Amino acid sequence: MNPRASTVHGLYVHVPFCAQKCSYCAFYSEASSGELVNRCVAALIRELELVAHNVRPTTVFFGGGTPSLLNLRQWEQILRAMQHLDLLGAGEFTVECNPATVSLDKARLLRSFGVNRISMGVQSLDEKLLDRLGRIHSRDMVFKSFDTLRKAGFDNVNIDLMFAIPGQTMDMWRATLAEAVALGSEHLSSYEVIYEEDTPLYARLQAGEFDVDEDLACGMYEELQSRAAAAGHVQYEIANFARDTIRNPELGTQNSESPSYACRHNINYWRGGSFYGLGPSATSYVNGVRTKNWSNTQFYCEQLEAGKRAIESSEELPPLRKAGETAAFGLRMVAGWSFEDFRRRTGFDLQTEWATDMHQLAERGLGRLDGDRFQLTDRGLRFADAAAELFLR
Ligand SMILES: C[S@@+](CC[C@H](N)C(=O)[O-])C[C@H]1O[C@@H](n2cnc3c(N)ncnc32)[C@H](O)[C@@H]1O
Ligand code: SF4
Repeated sequence: MNPRASTVHGLYVHVPFCAQKCSYCAFYSEASSGELVNRCVAALIRELELVAHNVRPTTVFFGGGTPSLLNLRQWEQILRAMQHLDLLGAGEFTVECNPATVSLDKARLLRSFGVNRISMGVQSLDEKLLDRLGRIHSRDMVFKSFDTLRKAGFDNVNIDLMFAIPGQTMDMWRATLAEAVALGSEHLSSYEVIYEEDTPLYARLQAGEFDVDEDLACGMYEELQSRAAAAGHVQYEIANFARDTIRNPELGTQNSESPSYACRHNINYWRGGSFYGLGPSATSYVNGVRTKNWSNTQFYCEQLEAGKRAIESSEELPPLRKAGETAAFGLRMVAGWSFEDFRRRTGFDLQTEWATDMHQLAERGLGRLDGDRFQLTDRGLRFADAAAELFLR
């Protein structure tokens, strides 16, 4: 038997700390003391040790929270442990950064251990909006940090922006977009604000402090698409855009359905691939089983200190249900699904199991059946969540 038969190629590590919680954010993270951060770093290394035998990463993603909040010593501990466990050398190795916590020393350290992609949370370049969102950085810090990343040798940088922020006018959005694309990043992600329950922003919406203007949000999305295209970014997912220039051959070949700087780690999620997710609150999908770690850093550390992974729940999805979820997720991508690729990945046939749903979407102008592939139209992408729901079983 091939001992690597079930080897997993996607590795996510969740760093559950932020300098301060932003008003809209529901990711599991907290502002915390040095001691808990040290403990958590040791626990993350312990969890890496527990899964390493089953992982050969082609993509690694450190997200959060704010991974760039870890100091040089903590990063060095993690990266040396990964080196020791033979987990370095991934074709794509991303670390999420907040512009307030990027330094040249840290960026150089990450680069020297093979981190080759940075995803920077910018959200807006309007000081008033940054303040309202509870961001800890100024617009100047964005420009400074971007230069620092370039100086450290990063030639694959993503910028996250948010739109339809309360108080944001179309002119403000246009100004942010123009300045953001002028930075010349290789990748751009941009989401409409989601009002997550249990966040201060949600409470303010409930209290009637502002209204949601759906038409304005639609206009902002269209502005995003046209500005990104004009700047040479190819849209490959509802909220993701990337350059399509030839990249360093060391990074390997790219799936031709997406631009060359597309985030391969996320494509693996959208295509229903396996991955390990380590750290508090992270989910994994390995050998058909979905597991979720406890969203409690203290408890997570205790479990790992006792030599166990901190898994809160585990479920094995019935194959048709998993295939339906995979269909729905994959439709977020502009390329949609090639029928053959879907069959190869899930063992199910879109043309038999989901024929009625695809025809229904095509008749409503939301989907396009094109020979050997089904994809959402521009209008369909705008309502992708509703369209995708039809595929769930
Ligand atoms: C984990 S954060 C990125 C890194 C870092 N923590 C930061 O914020 O600078 C991931 C991204 O998700 C997006 N995001 C988070 N909460 C959101 C929400 N409620 N609505 C829309 N986008 C959101 C933001 O664009 C954010 O940059
Ligand atoms: S958006 Fe980023 S920095 Fe803000 S609370 Fe969420 S994870 Fe932390």
